[in-house]
Amino acid sequence: MNIKRAVMVTGGAGFIGSNFIHTYLEENSNDIIVNLDKLTYAGNPENLYHLINNPRHVFVKGDIGDRGTVSQILREHRPWAIINFAAESHVDRSISAPDDFIHTNMVGTFNLLQQVRAYWEKLSSGEQSNFRFLHVSTDEVYGSLEYDDPAFSETTAYSPNSPYSASKAASDHIVRAYHHTYGLPTLTTNCSNNYGPYQFPEKLIPMVIHNALNGRPIPVYGDGANIRDWLYVVDHCKAIIQALQKGIPGEVYNIGGNSEKTNLEVVNTICTILDGIRPLTGNMHYHDLIKFVKDRPGHDRRYAIDASKIRKVIGWMPEETFESGIQKP
Ligand SMILES: NC(=O)c1ccc[n+]([C@@H]2O[C@H](COP(=O)([O-])OP(=O)(O)OC[C@H]3O[C@@H](n4cnc5c(N)ncnc54)[C@H](O)[C@@H]3O)[C@@H](O)[C@H]2O)c1
Repeated sequence: MNIKRAVMVTGGAGFIGSNFIHTYLEENSNDIIVNLDKLTYAGNPENLYHLINNPRHVFVKGDIGDRGTVSQILREHRPWAIINFAAESHVDRSISAPDDFIHTNMVGTFNLLQQVRAYWEKLSSGEQSNFRFLHVSTDEVYGSLEYDDPAFSETTAYSPNSPYSASKAASDHIVRAYHHTYGLPTLTTNCSNNYGPYQFPEKLIPMVIHNALNGRPIPVYGDGANIRDWLYVVDHCKAIIQALQKGIPGEVYNIGGNSEKTNLEVVNTICTILDGIRPLTGNMHYHDLIKFVKDRPGHDRRYAIDASKIRKVIGWMPEETFESGIQKP
């Protein structure tokens, strides 16, 4: 008889969390996933539609900051690992309404850690050393690069510029302190921009596709020259799984696609693909819909990730390039 182990995922109805749950369940037939998600505007149960009758996925609607709910899940399911995706994640929203970013990303992560520490301290020593708390973070905590600066490594000093990246940076520091002070076996991953299935349409790539297919203007901030590194979301999920299996507690791993693009290059690539598969009538091209708009305040110029540590130590490499990943259904 197979013994099922439990993994707790937070924010698993969102973009990356739902892709992670699908990927993890396919790769690990012995584990069940308990998914705690508050279902904010960004959480979509439809992302988990395929798991509706799957007994290996248990959904709990709730807040990572609700200590009662978290401790109940820990008592009932006794997870060997927790992967914390839950966050407010959209930079523009953090500029117009930062409160939720502070509540969830900082205070919520702190409350979650308090409950996890209390649970972990009561485990047997064998269970304690096998336990992992993996915190999913972003490259945005490192700030902005000039065009000729070296890419962010795990030792780059934090320099967050938006309320979003500052709240994520704070959560990374709290996680680090729980390892250093209490010995909690934590891992932190800092990843570049993801794209792929189930992404909320306010983010760049789904927004461009959505607007283009509806014949609406495609807004591009400023001059479109801001650079991001792009990674196919399933590659990110596989990196997290491998970090869980092979990562050393207390360590940080940067994850990236080695695929730096300006925003305008990303938009142009999508327009060209759409011209090929769903041509517009007349002499129109999707590029004609591009409209440069007033830049985001404090817009970081460039992010780039040096992912050599996770490649060397854990053996992870992305399977998709931007050109192959962007064509996937
Ligand atoms: N999207 C990216 O390109 C990217 C890149 C690097 C890192 N990240 C990080 O990965 C994580 C997931 O990002 P995403 O793009 O999937 O975000 P998302 O906004 O699509 O999903 C976030 C999920 O968390 C849930 N949630 C929000 N507040 C919660 C709370 N208090 N309690 C429980 N659940 C809550 C939401 O309902 C939603 O399902 C975030 O921590 C983000 O900082 C994202």
